Amino acid sequence: MKLKEILRDVEVLDLQADMELEISGISCDSRKTKPGDLFVAVKGFESDGHKFVAKAVEKGAVCVLCEDMPETDIPCIRMANTRVGLAAVSANFLGRPAEKLKIVGVTGTSGKTTTTTLIRELIEKLTGEMCGLIGTNVNIVGGVETEASRTTPESIEVQQLLYDMVEAGCKYAVMEVSSHALCLSRVYGIPFEAAVYTNLSLDHLDFHGTMEEYAKAKALLFRQARHGSVNLDDEYASVMLEAAECPMMTYSARDNEADLVAKDIRFSAGGVRFIAVSDEGLDTVKMRIPGRFSVYNALSALSALKMLGLPVADAAKALAECPGVKGRAEVVPTGTDYTVLIDYAHKPDALENILSTIRECAEGRVVTLFGCGGDRDRTKRPVMGEIAARYSDFVVVTSDNPRTEDPMAIIGEILPGLKGSKTPYKVIENRPQAIRWAMENAQPGDTIVLAGKGQETYQEIGHEKFHLDEREVVRDVLAGKA
Ligand SMILES: Nc1ncnc2c1ncn2[C@@H]1O[C@H](COP(=O)(O)OP(=O)(O)OP(=O)(O)O)[C@@H](O)[C@H]1O
Ligand SMILES: [Mg+2]
Repeated sequence: MKLKEILRDVEVLDLQADMELEISGISCDSRKTKPGDLFVAVKGFESDGHKFVAKAVEKGAVCVLCEDMPETDIPCIRMANTRVGLAAVSANFLGRPAEKLKIVGVTGTSGKTTTTTLIRELIEKLTGEMCGLIGTNVNIVGGVETEASRTTPESIEVQQLLYDMVEAGCKYAVMEVSSHALCLSRVYGIPFEAAVYTNLSLDHLDFHGTMEEYAKAKALLFRQARHGSVNLDDEYASVMLEAAECPMMTYSARDNEADLVAKDIRFSAGGVRFIAVSDEGLDTVKMRIPGRFSVYNALSALSALKMLGLPVADAAKALAECPGVKGRAEVVPTGTDYTVLIDYAHKPDALENILSTIRECAEGRVVTLFGCGGDRDRTKRPVMGEIAARYSDFVVVTSDNPRTEDPMAIIGEILPGLKGSKTPYKVIENRPQAIRWAMENAQPGDTIVLAGKGQETYQEIGHEKFHLDEREVVRDVLAGKA
């Protein structure tokens, strides 16, 4: 493709290249650069792409897009922000796939994976069209699942996934949009048909600094959407509504003023049930995932379908058939007189939500087993400890993904949160052994909550991923193997 097409609508400051130059690929990681590529030098957190221009040229790059002019003989284009540039040239190079799909974006601290999984199921059920998915657990293109690298990947990968979806015949796509992605232009230039805001709570302050900045980051999504919906019960709903540059609808489980309201809510260990009240009427909603947050995830999914112009009544009916989401309030079959439940909660509000839900419908004790991730926001560690103690009858403190941090040091930062309470606890650093201990000491009617790993089937220690699937550990303990 000619450089002039790749730079369509891209604002450049300094052009030292022939616009007729032929470009055969885009790369921003010199290890992946191929002959004929346009290499985009991006300033990262760990490394700066400008340092790898020479490497990229060695690998055959024929042109560089940069913020600072590098020492090189090959043609260069300078622009203010190459993260924006990377998104724009990737989209142009792939024929702007986002414009060939109806895309739903979901943002919020918690509920993105659950809600996007539900929205995809509902779109396919109601329209019969294929819907792609980009998320934390998996990416789905034309019905084929591939493992995901992060909640919202780099723009070059997002554009490639959208392109593959179009090629595979998808008419719709739904994606989790993290606050990092919005700040780092990973979804730059994507015209979302509908955007949904779930909630905001303590997380990522290592990146955003304050909750206000974190909220502002999320609100960016509503500046590139055609329709938006907001959880009116959330403290930061007004930030989203004020920043929006599109028509906005609201949903609530409390406020009758909202456009979509959950009434007559019923909870059980197996799920939730409520009446959805909207300008389309009253519709009964049933969902097979327990918890108060599941009412909100159902409302956010229904609001997305409504913004796509699909009837709430049909969406509500289809929701009842949706299976649960892997690693989200997932009950592991044990055949014993106690329950083992796996949940991805690894943030204070998510842990509070899942434990308060379990507390509401548990017969026996609530036994919580959890840890905190290494090389991540440390402020939440004692908070998680305090929440686990508040909602549990017994707590087992263990490792999550320690990464490069000392596992016992992480546990040391969690314990102050437990020390203030009367809830008994035990420290077992090795996670499989902690799970075995919890099961061997279970009492009839207990619910053992394995929190934090969710769908993950590995443990990150140092820079390596070691296989660890909690479902397998539970089975091995039951079989007397572990
Ligand atoms: N709407 C919600 N509000 C609060 N907590 C929720 C909500 N939905 C799910 N949770 C809890 O948070 C956990 C994570 O949910 P989910 O994976 O859907 O969130 P996410 O936004 O995708 O998280 P991440 O940012 O890690 O991708 C669940 O396992 C559940 O405990
Ligand atoms: Mg997610």
